[in-house]
Amino acid sequence: MSPSSTNGAPVPPPQPSLQPNAISSVSNTLPSSVFTLPQTAQLEALYTIIRDKDTLRGDFLFYSDRVIRLLVEEGLNHLPVVKKSVITPTGSTYDGVGFEGKICGVSILRAGEAMEAGLREVCRSVRIGKILIQRDEETMQPKLFYSKFPQDIAKRYVLLLDPMLATGGSAIKAVDVLMENGVPEDRIIFINLISSPEGLKTFCEKFPRLKVITGWIDQGLNEKAYIIPGLGDFGERRYCE
Ligand code: URA
Repeated sequence: MSPSSTNGAPVPPPQPSLQPNAISSVSNTLPSSVFTLPQTAQLEALYTIIRDKDTLRGDFLFYSDRVIRLLVEEGLNHLPVVKKSVITPTGSTYDGVGFEGKICGVSILRAGEAMEAGLREVCRSVRIGKILIQRDEETMQPKLFYSKFPQDIAKRYVLLLDPMLATGGSAIKAVDVLMENGVPEDRIIFINLISSPEGLKTFCEKFPRLKVITGWIDQGLNEKAYIIPGLGDFGERRYCE
């Protein structure tokens, strides 16, 4: 099946005039800590499928997993490496590199859990922590309800996983909790599929040393704090028929 078609029909090659419509007006003002995936026609085709309200759950799972895999790979590109030499089977020395430190994932429940498999696919035996943040009904502020981290998390690089960066409230609370557990800000990489410009701005102003890898930056938020055009409720689309 073609990468951008759910019915097997061939997809015409992208027209030179067909520019991906991501980033648009915010591109000039992106903080230097924000990295988007290459805005290719293929990526836009994947996003078109997962944004479509008529896409069936099976296709939503498959194509959102495709994007998650690309995001995780991009996140790993931002980890520091050190020189490492190996001997190849020909007896020669190859002067290469190896990752400097250990990593772990931390998913923000529940939607972030959907990104764990993508991380496990590329990092064998990776440790994964979890964090549950919900709005406190009295204060209306994001509140920590549950967290479980690898015991040595303070020594690891953390890939923080949450598919949608809307207002930024949960992500900011999650980073606060990680930092309270000893993880330095510049050892956290936040990975998401879609960001709102306002969420990105709030988040990056609070944590300028933390890198954000996002697949697409949308137009904004509606009155219910859903990302527009967005893809709706990621957790609902992922877990409910
Ligand atoms: N969470 C979602 O699942 N979707 C949004 O648009 C915003 C937050």
